[in-house]
Amino acid sequence: MIDLINIRKTYDENEGPVFDGFNAHVERGEFILVTGKSGSGKSTLIRMLLKEVEPDSGSIVVDGRELSGIAKNQIPAYRRGIGVVFQDFRLFDDYTVYGNLEVVLSVTGGSMRDSEQRITSILKLMGVDRLHKRYPRELSGGEKQKVCMARALINSPLVLLADEPTGNLDPASSAEIFRLLEIAHRQGTTVIMATHDLATADRLKTTCRRIDLDLMPKSAKHFC
Ligand SMILES: Nc1ncnc2c1ncn2[C@@H]1O[C@H](COP(=O)(O)OP(=O)(O)O)[C@@H](O)[C@H]1O
Ligand SMILES: [Mg+2]
Repeated sequence: MIDLINIRKTYDENEGPVFDGFNAHVERGEFILVTGKSGSGKSTLIRMLLKEVEPDSGSIVVDGRELSGIAKNQIPAYRRGIGVVFQDFRLFDDYTVYGNLEVVLSVTGGSMRDSEQRITSILKLMGVDRLHKRYPRELSGGEKQKVCMARALINSPLVLLADEPTGNLDPASSAEIFRLLEIAHRQGTTVIMATHDLATADRLKTTCRRIDLDLMPKSAKHFC
């Protein structure tokens, strides 16, 4: 489903490469934890999969598509097939909870009637349907992240990428977000989550596989 082959990525020649000869393979339906200390490259890995950051060399294949072959004007369409959740939420402040999901669907098409049903059902699944009329400023951090999860999942993506999704949350809200990630996973979504919240991650019931960027020598991060 996802292959990273012999990836090299350097931002600053003086600092040396963040990835050098990095390989990883993710099967469809896996739940992957990407761990490692701050600066180890977790966000870089997520951003390369989103085609926000280009590797210097190597190949990234997602669902049969070689990312270097995706033209600039096709990148938005590529990203719409992937769900993403960030630490800092990134909701649209001027839209209600419902509106934040509607915006996503309006870009991807579909009938209004169908939209309403899809929005309501994903908000329900994430446990935030009663908040649909609120604006982001009227939500707690945990509630915001649940809305982000709903927004990420509304198009039934094959892959959900989560970059430190619990980084701004208290332990109880973090546990809830992990539970929602497990729900998404159980529904067949491949989940790739960067986190340093290992205490909460240890309580995951889902079988997950860990890719630890700290275990790899800086000059050669290898996995399979
Ligand atoms: N846009 C950038 N420009 C220059 N250096 C960057 C940039 N993004 C990340 N880095 C550097 O790359 C390394 C990996 O960063 P990052 O992927 O954000 O790690 P993590 O998410 O694990 O904390 C760090 O040394 C960081 O300073
Ligand atoms: Mg990061």
